Amino acid sequence: MKKKDKVIFRCRGCGCQTPQWMGRCPECGDWDTLVAEKTEDGTPPGAKFSRKKSAAIPMDSITFDEEPRLTTSIQEFDRVLGGGVVPGTLILIGGDPGIGKSTLMLQVLSEISARGKKTLYVSGEESIRQLKMRGDRLSSSSDSNMFVAAETDLDSIISMAETEKPHVMVVDSIQTVYNPEMASTPGSVNQIREASIRLMNMAKQSGIPLFLVGHVTKVGAIAGPRIMEHMVDTVLYFEGDRSHVFRILRAVKNRFGSTNEIGVFEMKENGLREVPNPSAVFLEERSVNAPGSVVTASMEGTRPILIEIQGLASGSGFGNPRRTVLGLDQNRVALIAAVMEKRLGINLSGLDIFMNVTGGVKVVEPAVDLGVAVALASSFLDVPVPEGTTVIGEIGLTGEIRAAGHVEARLKEASKMGFTRCILPRNSQKQLPDIKDISVEGVTSLKQAMEILFP
Ligand code: TYD
Ligand code: MG
Repeated sequence: MKKKDKVIFRCRGCGCQTPQWMGRCPECGDWDTLVAEKTEDGTPPGAKFSRKKSAAIPMDSITFDEEPRLTTSIQEFDRVLGGGVVPGTLILIGGDPGIGKSTLMLQVLSEISARGKKTLYVSGEESIRQLKMRGDRLSSSSDSNMFVAAETDLDSIISMAETEKPHVMVVDSIQTVYNPEMASTPGSVNQIREASIRLMNMAKQSGIPLFLVGHVTKVGAIAGPRIMEHMVDTVLYFEGDRSHVFRILRAVKNRFGSTNEIGVFEMKENGLREVPNPSAVFLEERSVNAPGSVVTASMEGTRPILIEIQGLASGSGFGNPRRTVLGLDQNRVALIAAVMEKRLGINLSGLDIFMNVTGGVKVVEPAVDLGVAVALASSFLDVPVPEGTTVIGEIGLTGEIRAAGHVEARLKEASKMGFTRCILPRNSQKQLPDIKDISVEGVTSLKQAMEILFP
């Protein structure tokens, strides 16, 4: 008699399993994410690949020739990876549907194949014809080194990699790849895990660097995410606001480079273009001398980027004033508004507050706090921030201005973009060398900063 299949329940979000169904996942706390799953013969996926016995060896006996990284001529992309693609690595690239992941990967492969390396793009989402059409649009399809395939079957994809032996490979997307021998449907946690483990083994054994494209669910996690994030070497997120042209490629995990490094791109009619000087682009449409606008310098990885913060405080027609915040942390803005109310006597509680970072950029750094406060105060007072002035600093609960890191780099960027004056934390000013063409004024409190800007 066939042993009865046991049923377990697995969370689609975090992948944890429970013996019985629950409305809420006990691990990640998401609602309605548990799905029934049969434990087939009890073999965990990918187990058949790990049977080989290996022995421990002394660390100093290991020698290897470091293989060079593969580079593209897309510098923003290479930088985010820490200087190009390391052979044999597995890289997950996540992002919202329609943000441009497929476009980016196609362009990257096209660049690599233009350098005489064979590349393979496996799509489970588009037909060969659609890929060709996209390639034509990007003017990158004339390359004989670039191979494409429309395939979703895991075994076929792996054997294709073994016969074609490309220098780099892309599988777009991991959610479409599946093993038909398994009971679960494509895109389920089981299938994603099976596909990731087997593709990872393929990459490690063959040395072929592999990019896995993954769609992100609306909460911001790659569907079936945590199980994959720890397996892969690098996790990149491609983000941006679809109504804006800017896209940001961000490394959130990188075994071979620094994280939080970003690359900035612009989506054009014929594909993605690098933005080598993001500050200039983000400030392009700024209206100088308009109340409610201020420029601050935010560190994105190792790079300072100037961004414009806009604030609008206006009389509320309703009992409950609105707080609409784009590109900044809503709680942070609420905190800053409360500090302004308490320490400056600016009464914002009855007003609608709207905050925006132009260009669709998201900033999370506390050093932009002073920018938020200044934008709001400028709108409230209806007085523009003096021309050529930029601000940097974190605000504490007592209204103190706290030191920020990398002030020198930020100031250099501001000076490069034509700013002549910067209000910054007194503590950050201390060890600062003289920077060309920009004067600095150190402040210790929000009140002091406001007195300088709005006398
Ligand atoms: P795509 O790469 O298909 O997104 P993803 O793979 O992340 O789902 O990008 C789709 C969007 O990009 C689509 O809305 C059209 C736009 N786009 C351009 O603006 N220019 C282009 O050259 C291409 C190829 C796409
Ligand atoms: Mg796509």
